[in-house]
Amino acid sequence: MTRALPLHHHLRDASPLVYGCMALGGDWGGGPLTEADIAQAHAAVEAALEIGITLFDHADIYRRGKAEAVFGQLLKRDPSLRARVQLQSKCGIRFADDRDVGRYDLSAAYIEASVDGILQRLGVEQIDILLLHRPDALMEPAEVAQAFGRLKAAGKVNHLGVSNMHAGQMRWLQTALAEPLVVNQLELSLAKLDAIDGGTTFNDPQAATRPGGIAWAGTLEYAQQHGVQLQAWGSLAQGRFNNPAASPAAQAVHDIAEAHRTTANAVLLAWLLRHPAGIQPIIGSGNAERIRACGDATRLQLSREEWYRLYVTARGQALP
Ligand SMILES: NC(=O)c1ccc[n+]([C@@H]2O[C@H](COP(=O)([O-])OP(=O)(O)OC[C@H]3O[C@@H](n4cnc5c(N)ncnc54)[C@H](OP(=O)(O)O)[C@@H]3O)[C@@H](O)[C@H]2O)c1
Repeated sequence: MTRALPLHHHLRDASPLVYGCMALGGDWGGGPLTEADIAQAHAAVEAALEIGITLFDHADIYRRGKAEAVFGQLLKRDPSLRARVQLQSKCGIRFADDRDVGRYDLSAAYIEASVDGILQRLGVEQIDILLLHRPDALMEPAEVAQAFGRLKAAGKVNHLGVSNMHAGQMRWLQTALAEPLVVNQLELSLAKLDAIDGGTTFNDPQAATRPGGIAWAGTLEYAQQHGVQLQAWGSLAQGRFNNPAASPAAQAVHDIAEAHRTTANAVLLAWLLRHPAGIQPIIGSGNAERIRACGDATRLQLSREEWYRLYVTARGQALP
């Protein structure tokens, strides 16, 4: 399946799928990388490349830096890999420690220091896309714009995007930026329907299955109108649809998978790909075999009826 990329998406990547690297790099503790961590990451990345993926999603916090560090090891062992991949990472989340609570930080100083850490762990001079990981209540768009301007001028970051932001936040941030935001990465799947439900039930709050859903209204539309590439994290619903007996929605996913002779994961991804916004699902499995099987999704075209059967069954309530 080939799809036109949004207007402002000046990226080489044409695959509708993204590989999410949060499962790479061993445990979340502070221990050193092991050869087993490197071998697992190698197998996962090779499987992702085999199914045509070229965009790899990181964050400075994944495995407390070790997801980027293990990817850096792969790049070091095979320098030809750099030309075959696009690197995306995120900053802005700060973990709690002995002194401070967990918090968000999109100050210029924190963004710029985070990017230096990202480049150092990956062992590269530039990342293709930097995402602001979560909305910081104290964010000042002009400050973000200055930080991004300096990072771009220094050649450290090529494009800026956001994650977990709604339309109003994107619009507000964009007013200060000289360049278009290229990505918004949201949690979106049959287990997290807010962005879709926000649109279908905005005029009928009683019918909304999730109270937060209304806040998302307009987010998918903003992205499509302004050429912002949407990415879906949690696209495999963390494996929750793996067992058909787990819920009516899991059963529906399995019925449709069986009809198309494919896996439940491929159906979950195809459900996202069927949406006209051109959503890129991010695959977060660390298992090479499961990653390879996800390639089926790009060959699977769900009918309108299958799409709605999955949506309505997953929301657990008929549409108004
Ligand atoms: N922007 C954000 O705020 C944000 C937040 C979270 C994640 N992300 C990004 O999105 C990516 C994906 O997120 P995610 O990991 O939460 O979601 P995901 O892709 O929905 O779930 C991956 C998890 O589900 C398990 N899984 C998948 N299929 C399975 C199956 N058939 N049976 C059993 N287990 C199965 C995987 O286990 P195995 O590894 O064993 O396959 C893995 O633990 C991350 O890597 C990261 O890049 C972004």
